[in-house]
Amino acid sequence: MSEAAFAPRLATKLPGPKAQRFIELSEQYEPNCMSEQVPLVWRRAEGVVIEDVDGNEFLDFCSGVLVANIGHCHPYYVQETQAQCAELFNCYDFITPHRAQLAEKLVAITPPHLDKTFILTTGAETIESAIKLARRSSEGFEILSFYGAFHGRTYGAMSVGGMAGVKHGFGPLLEGCLKAPFCYCYRCAFDKTYPECEIFCLDHLDRVMARESTGALCAVLTETYQGGAGSIIPPEGYMEKLQAWCRKQGALLILDEVQASFGRTGKMFGFEHYDVEPDIVCLGKGLGSGVACSAVVGRSEIMDMLEPGEMSSTNGGNALSCRAALAAIKIIEDEDLPGNSARVGAVMMDELNEMKERFENIGDVRGQGLVIGVEVVEDRQSKTPAEQKTKDIVYESYKRGLAMIAPIGLHHNVIRIAPPLVITEAQAKAGLEILREAIEVVSGR
Ligand SMILES: Cc1ncc(COP(=O)(O)O)c(C=O)c1O
Repeated sequence: MSEAAFAPRLATKLPGPKAQRFIELSEQYEPNCMSEQVPLVWRRAEGVVIEDVDGNEFLDFCSGVLVANIGHCHPYYVQETQAQCAELFNCYDFITPHRAQLAEKLVAITPPHLDKTFILTTGAETIESAIKLARRSSEGFEILSFYGAFHGRTYGAMSVGGMAGVKHGFGPLLEGCLKAPFCYCYRCAFDKTYPECEIFCLDHLDRVMARESTGALCAVLTETYQGGAGSIIPPEGYMEKLQAWCRKQGALLILDEVQASFGRTGKMFGFEHYDVEPDIVCLGKGLGSGVACSAVVGRSEIMDMLEPGEMSSTNGGNALSCRAALAAIKIIEDEDLPGNSARVGAVMMDELNEMKERFENIGDVRGQGLVIGVEVVEDRQSKTPAEQKTKDIVYESYKRGLAMIAPIGLHHNVIRIAPPLVITEAQAKAGLEILREAIEVVSGR
């Protein structure tokens, strides 16, 4: 597989004959509950290039789902994980060198006041743990979070999530979960415009408290940018004002950085774009960069509130995942992937903003490093979400050799661009050229 200057290699009609066979197997034996993706059956991947089971090559604009930050099968990562496979996989809560070293590393690379870390497996587990920690360390139990938020699919994580799709039909959720509109400036819940609004959506939190709270708020939980809601990036001043509000309320600030960390936004952590000091940070995805690994990092006054045995997990902190995470962090640091993410992301934003001028169907382009959302609308005036067109653009891109995940967003009309952070400018431009063609075809229909 060559990734120097990417040109899609499409050897068969898509999906190819082998892919078709696995799609049929999957349809017969797997339920429909997973997200619906284009029919790309992955066989292997290297760097930013995916090869399917028929030998077709695609450029990766999704990193799985913002996981493969270091690129697929990075040689050092492969070497480290292969070596670990020959040594040890699981030993439950017994200490291993790599788990202890990963804890030390995570504390070293986060701000000094975050001095303990608890290692788990999935992002949703970190949210469950953060809720427990916040409730145990406070008199209160209420958690305020935001419309549009996605924190995972377990019951606690669904309860603090702000999208009906993941909780619809699942019965009573956790009590004490308050919600407020997020700063989705392109579709402001209050019909205001930034900066004249002076971030009114945060003033609104006082109203939420006055009307919904029992007076027992313990924490505010937010993503640093909302991912699933459509890559919604807070405007300048938002996070600082939110933190000030938390302090006034005596509430902890929990940041869900499951998606925003490990270089994705152009900095090691998404919160480094802001002048904030979170009390608890949830990490996942890029931490393991492939082998599932997640972590909660926090202040020891909070982290030490739980007694032995009160929080633990069979696979959390297993030997393979910790060694994989240590390797991934080393690669991210050694290759300055946050820097590459910022540089290539800026080039991509420029190109996409040019496309926005050209295509009436592009309503908004927003991004931070290598996480970019392109909001597709019927026309710029009405801003009517164009869900089918968005799906069609993703499909037309796939047919031309560009892999993206299914549309995201509150209205399912946002294209998510999130390549591995090792992508070069030339590869990024090649991918955008495919995207441009796909938009041209779909908007001409
Ligand atoms: C911001 C955020 N939090 C939590 C999660 C849940 O992570 P996981 O799927 O590993 O449970 C996700 C997953 O997409 C996420 O994007």
